[in-house]
Amino acid sequence: MEQQTFLDTTAAVSIRGLDKSFGRRSILRAIDLDIRAGEFVALLGTSGSGKTTLLRLLAGLESYECGQLVTPQVKAVAFQEPRLMPWLTVRANVELGVRGVDVGDRALRALDEVGLAGRVDAWPATLSGGEAQRVALARALIREPGLLLLDEPFSALDALTRLRMHQLTLNLWRAHTPAVLLVTHDVDEALKLAGRVVVLSDGAIAADIALPDLAIRKASDPAILAAKRHVLALLGVDVPPD
Ligand SMILES: Nc1ncnc2c1ncn2[C@@H]1O[C@H](COP(=O)(O)OP(=O)(O)OP(=O)(O)O)[C@@H](O)[C@H]1O
Ligand SMILES: [Mg+2]
Repeated sequence: MEQQTFLDTTAAVSIRGLDKSFGRRSILRAIDLDIRAGEFVALLGTSGSGKTTLLRLLAGLESYECGQLVTPQVKAVAFQEPRLMPWLTVRANVELGVRGVDVGDRALRALDEVGLAGRVDAWPATLSGGEAQRVALARALIREPGLLLLDEPFSALDALTRLRMHQLTLNLWRAHTPAVLLVTHDVDEALKLAGRVVVLSDGAIAADIALPDLAIRKASDPAILAAKRHVLALLGVDVPPD
């Protein structure tokens, strides 16, 4: 089925009754999901629950059997591994596939924003894991997407680098205000970054939890603790009672 695109100012994503199978195996069933323009949503679920499949559907990389899927025209994806072209410099990787007379300047600006102004002529093989992921973010940003799709982009990074990437992602989100769908296995990461947490289970949405405003949120907030227990229970993790 063809994906529709629209430029609504309030809705970035609208999914209705979406079914997706691989062969005879049903992966996603009757999914309904809306993401507002500029909203940051985290998607959790056990391994194999269909998170990447949903993200790929939103990116237009998968077909689907039945339902409705509406997304912004401009989408960008960053995966767990940065997927840089090893034969291109950092700057050329960011420019790749982007059109316009000012692409060079835009690439430099995007690399500056992710803190890599000094590495524009470096080769991917010489970058650290965190730097390579920052190039992947710059490559996504240069497109000014209405929807930014992130599939476990921090999971291969060490704890300290991951914390820095969290802050960078929030800064970039605030500066560019795309709608974001972040797939993660890390419940704390989801509760720290997102405004809403969606849990996939058995091919369906098992929970859709709005979180307190980021500006006033604390990890010890009762609403955050309750959300954490709820999500962990859905992921099959037993949480002892308080
Ligand atoms: N191209 C494909 N062909 C056949 N089956 C597939 C294909 N891609 C994914 N699947 C199956 O669909 C199911 C969902 O996969 P998906 O990658 O979406 O899960 P996930 O939630 O992202 O898992 P993980 O947390 O491990 O990344 C899995 O059982 C997987 O084996
Ligand atoms: Mg996945």
